[in-house]
Amino acid sequence: MDKLTSEQSSVEISEFITSLRNGIWLLGIPSWLFGITDRSMATLADGYLSAMDFMQLFTASFIFLSWLFLKPYQVEINTYPTDISLVPHEINPDSAQNRMLELRKLHMISQEYILPFSHLCQIYHLLNLKHLETVHSFSLSNLRVVSVTHFQPTAIGGIIKFQTMLNSDFNTLRIWRQPLVEVILALYNPYTVELNIPVYGNKRIVVMFNVEPISDKEHRLYIDIYSNLDWPKPLLQLLLHFASCLTLFEDLPYLRKLADRNIDRLFNVSMVSTHETAWLFKRFVELYGSAWKSSQSIKMLESKDTVTETA
Ligand SMILES: [Fe+2]
Repeated sequence: MDKLTSEQSSVEISEFITSLRNGIWLLGIPSWLFGITDRSMATLADGYLSAMDFMQLFTASFIFLSWLFLKPYQVEINTYPTDISLVPHEINPDSAQNRMLELRKLHMISQEYILPFSHLCQIYHLLNLKHLETVHSFSLSNLRVVSVTHFQPTAIGGIIKFQTMLNSDFNTLRIWRQPLVEVILALYNPYTVELNIPVYGNKRIVVMFNVEPISDKEHRLYIDIYSNLDWPKPLLQLLLHFASCLTLFEDLPYLRKLADRNIDRLFNVSMVSTHETAWLFKRFVELYGSAWKSSQSIKMLESKDTVTETA
């Protein structure tokens, strides 16, 4: 995570310096034009062109031309590499880190939160497709999960593809996307989930969620969003920050409700819904449910020992 963060920071610093240099260069053009026009009008006002006037105009024009040739070298700011596949192509133990490194040139925003819930509530919420319809009915404007079209389990996770539909003709998301699109959700490992959303053409928005348990009742959530949308980057960043905050705000009451429930019930294989929208969560429980239960049993035994020793 540290290596990734420092690489992202260096890319952001380099982009900022390039933007600054371009901004100064662009500002210089009207300034020079204004200076030359002003000098020319002042010279022509008296109808006489002296050698000194001529030298001043010649020097200003020469420096202006030189300024035009000093255009900063264009580094990709709003152009995007075409060799990066925004569709995940492999899911293996190391691929979450590799995936984020691969996507780093398309990085838009990062957010980090400390939330007062078990990280298991967050994972359950991320893998439960139905919550897109119910919890995010406002931000996603009553989007419907139509069907699950593909499910592929892996050794440590799985990938699911599902079709979503915009119900209404007046849905604001129609500005961004087609009415029926196939969304990808991938579980890379117990802590990393990717949500991959097509926008239009080959343009996509990829959201990587990483959870880091702090305690049984607290976790850190990292949200990284990537996109190859060729919108002005600051505008896109602003929109994505807003959308991310809004969806988290919608999620909070739902996460609180999950935290109040008995987590044992959530992670009991026999009690997990067999509906296709819960396939990926079922895969998570099959892989990690028993490990979590054993760790809980050990903690209970340890706490009993502590109570006995104190007594
Ligand atoms: Fe959510």
